[in-house]
Amino acid sequence: MIIVALKESMANEKRVAITPEITKKYVELGYQIALESDAGKDAGYVNSAYEKCGASIEKDRQALLEKADIVLCAAPLDQKDIKSLKKDALLIGLLKPHQNSDALPLLEKSKTTSFSLELLPRITRAQTMDVLSSQSNLAGYKAVVDAASEFGRAFPLMMTAAGTIAAARVLILGAGVAGLQAIATAKRLGAIVSAFDVRTAAKEQVQSLGATFIEVETQESGDAVGGYAKEMSETYKQAQADKLAEVVKNQDIIITTAQIPGKPAPVLITAAMVKSMKPGSVIIDLAAESGGNCADTVWGKTLVKNGVIVIGPANILSRIAGDASQLYSRNLFNFIKNLFADDAHTINWQDEIVTSTALTHGGKIIHPHFTTPEKA
Ligand code: NAI
Repeated sequence: MIIVALKESMANEKRVAITPEITKKYVELGYQIALESDAGKDAGYVNSAYEKCGASIEKDRQALLEKADIVLCAAPLDQKDIKSLKKDALLIGLLKPHQNSDALPLLEKSKTTSFSLELLPRITRAQTMDVLSSQSNLAGYKAVVDAASEFGRAFPLMMTAAGTIAAARVLILGAGVAGLQAIATAKRLGAIVSAFDVRTAAKEQVQSLGATFIEVETQESGDAVGGYAKEMSETYKQAQADKLAEVVKNQDIIITTAQIPGKPAPVLITAAMVKSMKPGSVIIDLAAESGGNCADTVWGKTLVKNGVIVIGPANILSRIAGDASQLYSRNLFNFIKNLFADDAHTINWQDEIVTSTALTHGGKIIHPHFTTPEKA
């Protein structure tokens, strides 16, 4: 079986789906690994490192796609690449099915069996394959480091002979995987950290990291199935906005990570709140791609609004692509190890992890969330 990773075609995507270390592991299991030349270069993995681990490096992208039994990707393939896939090939990666729905009919047509790892169930058995966690964790870390570098002041309290520097105040909105790592990173840098989330479990997790949990006075819980958050009522949103308006104006740094799966990100910071902040403050909006948690965010841009720096990173993981690729490629390896029921590579359609992530198979969209009633 030939497993292929291409040089990612999407702008701002520097990750690679197979690292040299993971190449070795595939080879040990009997797979052939082929990479497009320079596929790992932007993440710090050069062609010769792959070759040493048993992969072949090829220049002809089209030929690679035509022979691949499995294509692994970090970001969705473009339409031309999908059309070049061999019939019944497997495509596995972060396919962004919610944002990239135009690709689904093409994957049906090319009879590709595709698996989108955003759809992985958050169950204990899937933890080693959980790309959302591995990537969000690094994104949370990197957002704080980037904010610290943009901020024209220090994070920790410093008492020096020349005077005292106050600690920076950091607010984290959304205390899921990225938010909790952002809290831990900001604490390590010496900031005074507070955080907010709508899920009940978040309060204890925030407090266990030594941050202050911001309470909204209401009985409504944001818990939805699978540990995710639901969209809140209008009454709640108003109470939340009133509370945040009080808190936001005193912050130096805000990192926002609040997401609701399959829906636009909730707007938590209004333009008026941004205006209330001190010049030089920094907002990094990790929800920028799904619309942003800040009304002033523009995806892929850094704007300055009344002196406040508002950053909507297009792909923050490309700024930490070496580690992001390392964890991502291991997640994919663990997914593939679980995918087949036998040595003949029969897909294990009885497995919850397999069925939850399968998008298309046998010329049809098979994931219930993306199947229209006419197609069902
Ligand atoms: P996510 O990326 O979908 O959302 C990030 C955070 O935003 C969440 O904590 C969510 O509650 C919060 N949020 C949504 N709307 C909000 C609002 N209006 N205001 C403030 N915050 C809001 O979530 P992520 O980070 O992927 O984690 C989702 C859940 O999955 C968490 O409970 C996490 O602990 C759980 N999980 C479970 C795993 C397992 O294996 N059992 C593995 C990884 C995560």
